[in-house]
Amino acid sequence: MTHRVALLPGDGVGPEVIAEARRAVDALGLSLEWTELLWGSAHWHEHGRMMPADALETLDAHDAVLMGAIGDPSVPDHVSLWGLVLEIRQRLDLWANVRPARLLEGVPCPLAGRGPADVDMLFLRENTEGEYSGIGGRAHQGLGAEVAIESSVFTREGVERVIRHAFEVASGRRGVVTSATKSNASRYGYVLWDEVADEISAGFPGVRYERVLVDALAARMVRDPASLDVVVASNLFGDILTDLAAAIQGGMGMAASANVAPGSQRPGLFEPVHGSAPDIAGRGIANPAGAIWSAVLLLEHLGEREASEALMRALEDVCRDGPRTRDLGGEANTAEVGAAVVERLG
Ligand code: IPM
Ligand code: MN
Repeated sequence: MTHRVALLPGDGVGPEVIAEARRAVDALGLSLEWTELLWGSAHWHEHGRMMPADALETLDAHDAVLMGAIGDPSVPDHVSLWGLVLEIRQRLDLWANVRPARLLEGVPCPLAGRGPADVDMLFLRENTEGEYSGIGGRAHQGLGAEVAIESSVFTREGVERVIRHAFEVASGRRGVVTSATKSNASRYGYVLWDEVADEISAGFPGVRYERVLVDALAARMVRDPASLDVVVASNLFGDILTDLAAAIQGGMGMAASANVAPGSQRPGLFEPVHGSAPDIAGRGIANPAGAIWSAVLLLEHLGEREASEALMRALEDVCRDGPRTRDLGGEANTAEVGAAVVERLG
């Protein structure tokens, strides 16, 4: 069976890192067909929209999507992001955003005295609702009475599915689920979140469950990352905590993500967490590790476990032995790191 993978290089450094991820996947010799989709900010300038009207149907006809990044200074961020990645997450109902934060050997950690043995966290971010519901509005623009309302939405179903998945995943790891909450200040959404987490935890006696206020959790990630295994969080908390997690695992260039709907046939969307980085775009110096690691997650999603593990090993080898990009203290460019990963695949 041939895997059908949509390739969406996107904006900024997206095409640069995606080229290396694609090269690495191609080197594995799988039966896989790419469909390149030139959507993004240039598409918006040309057609007035970030992606075609039938984009979701196009994606749905694939088994997975590998995406670079979206965002360009010439398009307002809320337009480009709601016109593409946020729309895809919501409309394809990719409700789990899975973000591994593991410190690989050879990658400098900003926390004094910490090494790979201390940093192996897996973040599960709710991906379709919460603070990203998209519900709200503005009125009386430009007047003194101007008002903007942005509503957070927490549904029992939405909260339940992501928290349940966290427990399932934790069962196959070190068996700890930390739920990020803010139910001391938010009286409704996070109180529901906590109630659901308590209920689900009762069904997983083998998993240790703790509820931690998100502000305290941010501090704990810095002070004692080794105490964290699976962290489950709302959309916005998960967004913020995973930038911190990325810094702890060596920087934004290292961080990978999978937007998925576990248990469904829908295509997953795999993307590095770093964004389009317009400041370094076009210079060939972006770290392709996050994109290559995202391809590792994509291969796992396709059921190509061996290939996925082989690619992860190759990435680990290169991080340990070099070459490394500048963000990791090296001097190599994007393509040199990509070539080294392919070479390690043998
Ligand atoms: C991420 C990004 C996006 C998010 C932005 C670009 C909308 O920061 O994937 O973490 O907030 O989800
Ligand atoms: Mn983010």
